[in-house]
Amino acid sequence: ERTRVAIIGAGPAGLLLSHLLGRQGIESIVIDQRSREQIETTIRAGILEQGTVEILSETGASDRVHTVGRRHEGIELAFAGEHHRIDFAATAGRAVWLYPQHEALKDLIAARLAAGQDLRFEVTAERVEDAESDRPRLIARDASGAPVEIEADWIVGADGSRSVARSSVSGQRAGYFREYPFAWFGILCEAPPSAEELIYSNSAEGFALISQRSPEVQRMYFQCDPEADPDALSEAELWETLQARVPGTTLKEGRIFQRDILRFRSFVAHELRRGRVVLVGDAAHTVPPTGAKGMNLAVADVVLLSEALRSALADGDDALVDAYPETALQRIWKAQHFSWWMTSMLHLQPEASDFDRLRQLGELRTVVESEAGRTYLAEAYTGWPMPGIE
Ligand code: DHB
Repeated sequence: ERTRVAIIGAGPAGLLLSHLLGRQGIESIVIDQRSREQIETTIRAGILEQGTVEILSETGASDRVHTVGRRHEGIELAFAGEHHRIDFAATAGRAVWLYPQHEALKDLIAARLAAGQDLRFEVTAERVEDAESDRPRLIARDASGAPVEIEADWIVGADGSRSVARSSVSGQRAGYFREYPFAWFGILCEAPPSAEELIYSNSAEGFALISQRSPEVQRMYFQCDPEADPDALSEAELWETLQARVPGTTLKEGRIFQRDILRFRSFVAHELRRGRVVLVGDAAHTVPPTGAKGMNLAVADVVLLSEALRSALADGDDALVDAYPETALQRIWKAQHFSWWMTSMLHLQPEASDFDRLRQLGELRTVVESEAGRTYLAEAYTGWPMPGIE
């Protein structure tokens, strides 16, 4: 089989890339090892930068982002028993949207299928061959175990942090890497929102984030040991832990129907491209979740790469693909810094001395009391300008 662009991974990066290429008349095949149902029901990220929303709505990928999604013009930063609002509209003149990732995926899948594009679920990529030729091949296996081989002009690894494509580009583990001595305990519960906006709380007991998913479902996290057993605490103990970390806010409790542990890592692959194989999204980099950059960074990669591939395939001009790694890495490292900074400023470091702890509160106070500090946070959170789209 042949296609112009073979895309591994039907997450936000792979599906959006296929959608943007399709608008330029460039066909692609997207494969994913998961089922459509799994992709459309797994609850993951929830915050979209303004630029991400503009791309989804202006390219016809999603109208629901405006009807189901909800605009948030600020967040609360809580520390030392105080609540401070970071007003995005007043400082950065921008906003974010609360729109669950799986809702965006439903929209993208529907748009792809409506356009008659080739989207294959339960097909598992095994490896990429001949990356440096002009006919790279994607070797995979379908649900019945039958081999699938796709020859393409370009192969894109949009296959997440356990990327198969990465081994042929950069080496499986070859990259800049940092681990953190804590994780997030995440819950989903059936309850109304506890506050209008998201609350990021630095407390003496550790960090907590009170986020949302919909009027009926809330997402909350608290800092925990990376080795914690998600089933060790009762529901009452979970609520007690969360409540102790957001003094001044009374949490609205409800049935907890999902619990998970999120590892904290920072990673950037040494190489984002080899020959005709290119990495985007989590396959190329991972950020810790604080600040919600992961999915938005994937979208920024894809906007750049779609334009570069269009130029290569339609005009025979490889200059933008050649420039893709360097251009993408500028935003990637800014987002790495922001995610590391939000993480470091808000979490209790297990080894922290009293000095470290008081310095951290001094840092938070510096940010909230300075218009420049609030503006930096708001600019980064709502997203630096996205690359343009045609
Ligand atoms: C969510 C996750 C984040 O990391 C964040 O900064 C904000 C919200 C969330 O899952 O809702």
